[in-house]
Amino acid sequence: MDKLLIEGGVPLAGEVSISGAKNAALPLICAALLTDKPLTLANVPHLNDVTTMLRLLAQMGVDVTLDEKNSLVLDAGGLNKPEAPYDMVKTMRASILTLGPLLARTGRARVSLPGGCAIGARPVDIHIRGLQAMGAEIRVEQGYILAQAKRLRGARIFCDQVTVTGTENLMMAAALADGVTVIENAAREPEVVDLADCLNAMGAKVSGAGGDIVTVEGVERLGGAAHRIMPDRIETGTFLVAVALTGGRVRLNGTRCGILDAVVEKLRKAGAMIDCHKDTIEISAAGPLNAVSLRTAPYPAFPTDMQAQFMAMNCVARGAAVVTETIFENRFMHAQELRRLGADIEISGNTAVVKGVPRLDGATVMATDLRASACLVVAGLVARGETLIDRIYHLDRGYEHIEEKLMQLGARIRRVH
Ligand code: UD1
Repeated sequence: MDKLLIEGGVPLAGEVSISGAKNAALPLICAALLTDKPLTLANVPHLNDVTTMLRLLAQMGVDVTLDEKNSLVLDAGGLNKPEAPYDMVKTMRASILTLGPLLARTGRARVSLPGGCAIGARPVDIHIRGLQAMGAEIRVEQGYILAQAKRLRGARIFCDQVTVTGTENLMMAAALADGVTVIENAAREPEVVDLADCLNAMGAKVSGAGGDIVTVEGVERLGGAAHRIMPDRIETGTFLVAVALTGGRVRLNGTRCGILDAVVEKLRKAGAMIDCHKDTIEISAAGPLNAVSLRTAPYPAFPTDMQAQFMAMNCVARGAAVVTETIFENRFMHAQELRRLGADIEISGNTAVVKGVPRLDGATVMATDLRASACLVVAGLVARGETLIDRIYHLDRGYEHIEEKLMQLGARIRRVH
């Protein structure tokens, strides 16, 4: 199993390109299931989760072509097996995003129920209830969601919790439903907007995406389209933290502040200098940062996917920070690993109190989930001596060429097989 070896203490410098967003790419790939015409996606990130989603669609009968310029053509004209088997869903929960499109287009779907995952229980009850409200007959048998509907019909759906993939699933299903669907308490994440833009380019009538009420006027059929995937705001945020923490100066290309205002705001509070341009961000930092408290919440508030990286930053900041996680119940596993590097972190329920220490010392640590892995990488970049990160397959699910990009910025990092 691959590991990452990092020798900390080098301020990052130079420029780096931010990839297309994983969390936008996955629903956009599923949107191809809604039509028998080709959907072309540009700026597709090379990630294991994307490969898994493409394999999943290919075994449903979708024709998948990826060129070297990161452009992907998906043709679901030959869609013949509306099924997502357990062995694929278990490695990637986002496979649930095939449920809505498959049901809407073919009238049936058999999608494995995702299990719990390291960061929490993560049920899909809102996805299921929403589709039922649209007239789907759904039963769960032997770990599979079996869904059926002649044609879905528009409905008013209230989500009792804000769910990103839930909103996306229902939006895609509603695009082909008979009548108007109103999704209330919808997720406002930029990836939801990116999906709505693509659906509209395919001929859908989605309005209000980015707000908490999304209205979808169903149409009979959708056509092909070409869409460029938005930049990855979590990759952007992770690089911003890495630069701030190491006291460097870097320009991030192909991304923008407007998709991660809450993160930029906190970094400025911590003492980093950030200049926002149309599609680049410049960041520099010098000297120790100030500790910043934060509370995760649905967009536009501080993202749960950046919580771990900020915890690493707070470990060596001046003062103490209170980090509150409100989205997932078990998302502090990185704290234990950070302690192995010398961090002072106390956890009580969904709150962590992080007291800054003068420095972290390299050690062997274990990645437990995607963003926890990113947290250990940024901690390793600032720790004295060598940090060896085990189980980095999580990182490959969500960060494109992370060690190459960091190396390009001067970091001493390498993959060991
Ligand atoms: C998405 C992101 C993930 C991010 C998360 C929260 C993708 C592919 N993944 O995950 O990176 O960490 O948003 O920003 O976009 N919930 C229910 N019932 C449901 C659905 C969700 O109770 O039917 C709960 C979850 O357990 C969780 C909360 O709602 O506590 C938010 O989860 P959700 O927004 O659905 O996360 P994902 O869409 O899976």
